[in-house]
Order: sequence, then structure tokens, then C-alpha cells
Amino acid sequence: MAISFEILEEDIFGRTGRLKVGEKILKTPALLPVVNPHLPLITPAEMKSLGVGALITNAYIFHRSKEFREPALTRGLHDLLGFDGIIMTDSGSFQLSVYGDVEVSNSDTLLFQQSIGSDIIVPLDIPTHPDTSREQTEKELGTTMDRLREAMEILGPGAPLAAPIQGGAFPDLREQAGRTAGEMGFTFTPIGAVVPLMESYRYEDLVRVVLAAKKGLPSSACVHLFGAGHPVMFALAVAMGCDLFDSAAYALYAKEGRYLTTHGSKKLAELSELPCSCEVCRSHSADEMRQSPEKIRLLARHNLIVTLTEISRIRQAISDGVLWELVDERCRSHPRLLRGYRTLLTYTEELAARDRISKRGFLLVRACLLPLTVSHLVACRSTIPS
Ligand code: GUN
Ligand code: ZN
Repeated sequence: MAISFEILEEDIFGRTGRLKVGEKILKTPALLPVVNPHLPLITPAEMKSLGVGALITNAYIFHRSKEFREPALTRGLHDLLGFDGIIMTDSGSFQLSVYGDVEVSNSDTLLFQQSIGSDIIVPLDIPTHPDTSREQTEKELGTTMDRLREAMEILGPGAPLAAPIQGGAFPDLREQAGRTAGEMGFTFTPIGAVVPLMESYRYEDLVRVVLAAKKGLPSSACVHLFGAGHPVMFALAVAMGCDLFDSAAYALYAKEGRYLTTHGSKKLAELSELPCSCEVCRSHSADEMRQSPEKIRLLARHNLIVTLTEISRIRQAISDGVLWELVDERCRSHPRLLRGYRTLLTYTEELAARDRISKRGFLLVRACLLPLTVSHLVACRSTIPS
């Protein structure tokens, strides 16, 4: 495989690692900002100067675009975007799940992504919505797995292919998908169709499906959480063993006038101070940012910096063996996130099998979590895990 992954340090189910794609190397956990060539609020060159080593863009946009298709094919993506790091391309499957039919076949998108020089190629998986029936989910998962097999045949077993793990809201199907992808030799495995869970704050279901996929996957697989963009949930996701995130949130929130923080987002219109020391916030007051003709770009830059900083903080927390403390702090920002966190804590046996530092943190966190969360629990009408 042209993609290999080396685990360096571990804490809870999280790890720091080194992803190697061809000759390019990325420290993980890492964030892949989403680049939309039609609306580049931050250019890939600016991203690089902020320390971004990998980004993701949608091959389907290039495939369909009159403006970008030919230059992508003739010059290649790296030259066209002005970025020499890792470029992952998504297949357009997500558009399929949102807009209905996509006019592209699995082999079309695979060969197109290869032709434009993508570093990580995503087959045309089917992102099954978590409310789908078991029967339909099984059927769609079968199609996704057939397309992964077909991708290996078309591009060859050494191709830099991602294997999206589907299976809707059914943990056993997620586990089976992870196991089969591992057996097929995939080393890069995004967990798909979790956006609807995150959008509706179903963090308990998110924890169940991610941990189920992880259970089936070899621990050596690099795991990307598809479409997870808000920094408030990165610590929890890393604690479950996710290594990569892609984020359009920095840009989407900026367009809505929203300012990201690690514990939620705020409306710029309502801020009297900018509670951040990034270069944007150091050189502008809240009023100046609001009145700037560059407001959306400034917000996007701040949002991206906050997001990247959170990823660095998580890497350091893993090295220091204090990931539990960070997860605990972040998950108190939102009662629904806290429920996801409590779901993770119910995986007692699996957690207890982790290393010495985690166990200490785990016992500490469990001891502290119960009394502190009673008010949240009452508000959520939930039960306290035993
Ligand atoms: N982006 C967000 N979710 C998904 C998914 O399930 N599959 C693919 N290919 N892209 C995504
Ligand atoms: Zn800032």
C-alpha cells in the first residue's frame, strides 16, 4: 500500500502517529481543511503557512466544473491548488447522499482522481443515513464493499486508496465493515455517514458506531472521521481512536458570522471582546473585525487557527498522558456531548485494558464525573452509568 501508518504514542484509544503517503509524511492527529476551489476563503498556500500538511477537496467539483476540469487534468491538483502537501480527494458520495443521484460511476471517479494526481483516493461509497432500516443498510453496505473490492482491482493493491466504513447506525455492521476492510488490506479507513449524527447531536450513537468500526478494524489502520469539523468534539473523537478530521466548519461558520472557540461557537455580532490570542484576534478588536470588508476571511482564518491549535493541544495531551482531562473539559461544554462521553465511559473493560496512564486518568475522571454531572443528567433525563 502506498499509504502506511505508524503509531507513536497512545492514550485512551487515541494515538499520535505518522501517516506516510508516498514520500509525504503527516503527524497525526491532524486536520485536513476542506478546500472548495469556487470559494477559497483561505488559499492552500495560506493554509500551508499555518502548518497544514494535508487538505481535502471534492473530486466531483473538478469532474463537473467547466472552469477546473481541464486544468486539473493537465496541470494536476497540486499545481492548480498551489499546495505540495497531501491532497485527499473525496468521490462525491456525500453529494449523492444529500442531493440524490450523482452522475459518475465508481470507476469514473477512481480513474479521474488518479488522473488529477490525488494523494488519497476515495471510492464511490454509499453513505447510509443512520435512520435507514437494517435491510436497506445491509444492502447498501454490500454495494460499498463491492466498490472497495472493485477499486483495488481497478487501481491495483498498491494504490493510495481510502476505504470508507459504512453500516449506518448498526454497530455489528460497522464492525463487520471494519473487519472486512482490514482483511482486504486497506490501511486508511474513514468512518462515513456520521455527519447526520453530529448535526443532530446524537453523540451516544456516534460513540457506538465509531467504537464498533474500531473494534473490527486492525489497530494499525489510520482512521479518519468524515465530516467532523467542530473543534469541541475533536478530543472525544481522538479518545475513541480517530486520527484525522476534515473540516469545512472554519469556512461555513465564518460565512454565518460565527466565531469558533474550543467550547462552542459565538456570533461575532454579540462579542465585545475576542477571547483568543491568534494573529487575527491580536491585531483586531471585535468592532474592527465586524466592520472590516474582510470580515468573513478574518473569521475563517481565526476559525481555522483555533481548530488547528486544538489538534496540536490534543497531540500534546496524548504525549503527556492527560487526554482524559482534555476530553472531560471539552465534553462539559454541551450536555449532549457529555452523554457521548458517558457512553465512552461505559466501555469499562476495553478502557481498563489500556495503558497505565489512561487507567489512572480513567479512574479519576469517573470519580469526578458522577457528582459533577448530576445537573446535566437530570436535564437530559438520563441515567448515570454504573
Ligand atoms: N463526507 C462526509 N461523510 C462522508 C461519507 O460517508 N463518505 C464520503 N465519501 N464522504 C463523506
Ligand atoms: Zn483568534
